[in-house]
Amino acid sequence: MSDLADVVHARRSIRMFLRDKPVPRELLTEALELAMRAPSNSNIQPWRLFLTSGPRRDRLVEALLAQASRGFPATVGLPESFADLRREVGKMVYGAMGIAREDREARRIAQLRNWEFFRAPVAGVVCVHRNLGAVDSMSVGMFLQTLMLALTERGLGSCAQVSIAHFADVVREELDIPEELTVLCGLAIGYPDEDFPANHLDTPRNPIAANVVFRED
Ligand SMILES: Cc1cc2nc3c(=O)[nH]c(=O)nc-3n(C[C@H](O)[C@H](O)[C@H](O)COP(=O)(O)O)c2cc1C
Repeated sequence: MSDLADVVHARRSIRMFLRDKPVPRELLTEALELAMRAPSNSNIQPWRLFLTSGPRRDRLVEALLAQASRGFPATVGLPESFADLRREVGKMVYGAMGIAREDREARRIAQLRNWEFFRAPVAGVVCVHRNLGAVDSMSVGMFLQTLMLALTERGLGSCAQVSIAHFADVVREELDIPEELTVLCGLAIGYPDEDFPANHLDTPRNPIAANVVFRED
């Protein structure tokens, strides 16, 4: 896969990975080399990414699951104009997992997989310096999207995960993340479990006119 449009369309959020299929380090390095080409304000390259696999990843997952067992973080409220889209994607994702809306226990189990990084062998944590602003988080996002596309091009799956940032203290402690960094999100990386129907979702997008305004008069 080398055409940009093909890669953009092929990328999707993967929510079940092959736990025992390791990610070759050379593929990860190639993808990171490409992601490092992302643009940033004054070329400060503000993205900071912590990657873990092996026993340290397992300890992180254990600590996150222990924290989640004491209670899930409250879902961050969204402005009303975005709420419908969240509901729609929730319906799609849980629907593909065969979970009915009223089945709270099944939803809880599915949600818990967030803190297992959806069983991905490589668990990432994306950070930015706490004194940088929103504009610099944009650069982190550009790095992240480039990384996810480069991983897709190499047959690897990924999922960005704000759910990981909800337990930032746990992540900070388990991965020795310095105080000056804000935890933005997690990033699960691995080979997708192709038999998991929710890995094949085609989530809809708005028409361009809903998000982009041309002023030409
Ligand atoms: C910053 C960010 C945070 C996200 N956090 C989560 C998360 O915590 N859990 C999850 O299952 N998906 C998460 N997602 C995935 C989105 O739900 C997904 O990108 C969106 O529904 C569009 O689907 P697609 O990625 O398959 O195209 C996140 C995506 C982004 C970009």
